[in-house]
Amino acid sequence: MGKVKIHVVDHPLLTHKLTVLRDERTDSPTFRRLTEEIVTLLAYEATRDVHVVPVTVKTPVAMTEGKVLAKPRPVVVPILRAGLGMLEGMTRLIPTAEVGFLGMVRDEVTLQASTYANRLPEDLTGRQCYILDPMLATGGTLIAAINYLFEKGARDITAITILAAPEGIAAVEKAFAHTEAPITIVTGALDEKLNEHGYIVPGLGDAGDRLYGVV
Ligand code: URA
Repeated sequence: MGKVKIHVVDHPLLTHKLTVLRDERTDSPTFRRLTEEIVTLLAYEATRDVHVVPVTVKTPVAMTEGKVLAKPRPVVVPILRAGLGMLEGMTRLIPTAEVGFLGMVRDEVTLQASTYANRLPEDLTGRQCYILDPMLATGGTLIAAINYLFEKGARDITAITILAAPEGIAAVEKAFAHTEAPITIVTGALDEKLNEHGYIVPGLGDAGDRLYGVV
């Protein structure tokens, strides 16, 4: 039976950046830059099991054995809109990853997630997929996104989130309790709870608004 793996990245540099990110006085340009830096640190942990293949290289001194990223390359899937703010930080670490987009919106009243746009490879069989979504709140969006990738054949899925609420983690664990495929959640912090509006407490507010302004 499947078990969702949760990895809370605990590093003082990450905690520092996260604390500034949470501060309501942090403006959008700083918020965007910090988000990229945080994602690069999270991605470093999240890609620990990325597929590699052995190769031989010739240094100026001798032949040696090394490893390079395997093909097909991993697929990075930012969830629009807020996940877009995480893309640059991820591709800085894996510049050759393919990028697919998934547009999901959650109804503010029912908190149900639905897909409004997608641009992804038709067949994700055998591809390692990295979902980018800054806030794991109710879990609705992430569950819908994982199911969407499953439908396209993906079986190895890692979600990278900046913050997670216990309710969201529990919902994802419940939704995929009987799934064989490995699912990993890598997050910068596990917060206290959700409030009645579905916001993470203490959280950082609306990630999309803080990245891109209220539109
Ligand atoms: N989405 C956000 O942007 N913030 C939250 O706190 C919860 C969901």
